[in-house]
Amino acid sequence: VQVGAAVGDYAVTVGRGLLKSLPTVLQAVAPGRRVALISDSNVGALHGGAAVDTLAEAGIGVRAYDFPAGEASKTRRTWSILTDRLLDDGFGRDTCVVALGGGVTTDLAGFVAATFLRGVPVVQVPTSALAMIDASVGGKTGVDVRAGKNLVGAFHAPRAVIADVEVLATLPRAERAQGLVEALKHGAILDEGHFALVDDLADRLLDGDADAFARVVLASVEIKAGVVQRDEFEGGLRQILNFGHTLGHALEAASSYRLPHGSAVAAGMVGEARMGEALGVTASGTAERLEGALRRLVGDVRAPVDPREARGYLAADKKAVGGRPRYVLLEGIGRTAGSEGWAREVPEDVVEAALASVTRGPEPAGA
Ligand SMILES: NC(=O)c1ccc[n+]([C@@H]2O[C@H](COP(=O)([O-])OP(=O)(O)OC[C@H]3O[C@@H](n4cnc5c(N)ncnc54)[C@H](O)[C@@H]3O)[C@@H](O)[C@H]2O)c1
Ligand SMILES: [Zn+2]
Repeated sequence: VQVGAAVGDYAVTVGRGLLKSLPTVLQAVAPGRRVALISDSNVGALHGGAAVDTLAEAGIGVRAYDFPAGEASKTRRTWSILTDRLLDDGFGRDTCVVALGGGVTTDLAGFVAATFLRGVPVVQVPTSALAMIDASVGGKTGVDVRAGKNLVGAFHAPRAVIADVEVLATLPRAERAQGLVEALKHGAILDEGHFALVDDLADRLLDGDADAFARVVLASVEIKAGVVQRDEFEGGLRQILNFGHTLGHALEAASSYRLPHGSAVAAGMVGEARMGEALGVTASGTAERLEGALRRLVGDVRAPVDPREARGYLAADKKAVGGRPRYVLLEGIGRTAGSEGWAREVPEDVVEAALASVTRGPEPAGA
């Protein structure tokens, strides 16, 4: 998939065994550069060695760096450790960062690349379903801070994205499910056929079937790319990618981030579809269809959080305008409502009813 970006177009390649083509891709998009390969501790141990060997065999200078796996590492502190290590090791303006990992790695290493010596190229090599389907495409990079997730960062489009679906074999099943929630979201906002494809292939996808993943990642990236190249810096249309995320982010925060992002967004999509149905914007039956497909991926979509707690976080949404949260509403599966802008305010009572329907109260202590 070719993605248009202000700094230059880039290709997202999806397929089996693509890690071997890393040297060829680098020679094409970042010739003559030394590679700083950044991974988390899990992915580094599983796939880092192979990546280093292929690059070294092709005569490309490479040094590997890793950081402890997990969202807790997506911080300015890890960013500063990595940038210091690169400087200590003599990396200069001829650096190309290669981010090999999940969305934490592609966001963090992307931010290292965006800021290192005021910006060096990055090639994204996503290894989780979420990073292939969502995080590695679109150029958003950044870190989490005390006030919230992703609040410090930069737009930094990659030179290339290489999604080798074979590495998903080592990804835990629950992580595959989390990423696939975003694929269903891409279908829900723009493409009913894609929604049906993900739903049909759900079992094979959860098992990590590489061919099923190749089809779904490719189609999902096509959808996301189509949106981000029309609105790279999120002035308008790109907001539709936030379907399910206004409620989802509030649910995540209310769970103190114990609820995984995909599960939170699953509840958020069903809740926001119910809001649309209550307002007469969304065709009736849409929320139910969404819930059926999402349940096959993540189980019960209702979030184990206190709905009142979630409401407290809604006003703090970073996309809120004047402190009032806004929601992307569907017309139906595959169609987003756009007649009042891509995101709109929703009356309090409608939000409250939707939140009540997608929460089941906090887990009892000690559970
Ligand atoms: N920039 C964007 O547009 C964008 C979009 C969506 C999400 N994100 C970000 O993505 C992050 C979440 O991404 P994630 O879910 O991939 O998290 P992650 O990077 O933490 O990966 C999840 C887990 O899977 C492991 N893993 C990854 N690939 C593996 C593989 N092939 N085999 C075995 N284990 C593997 C990781 O080590 C980690 O433990 C969040 O920080 C979120 O903010 C960014
Ligand atoms: Zn998301």
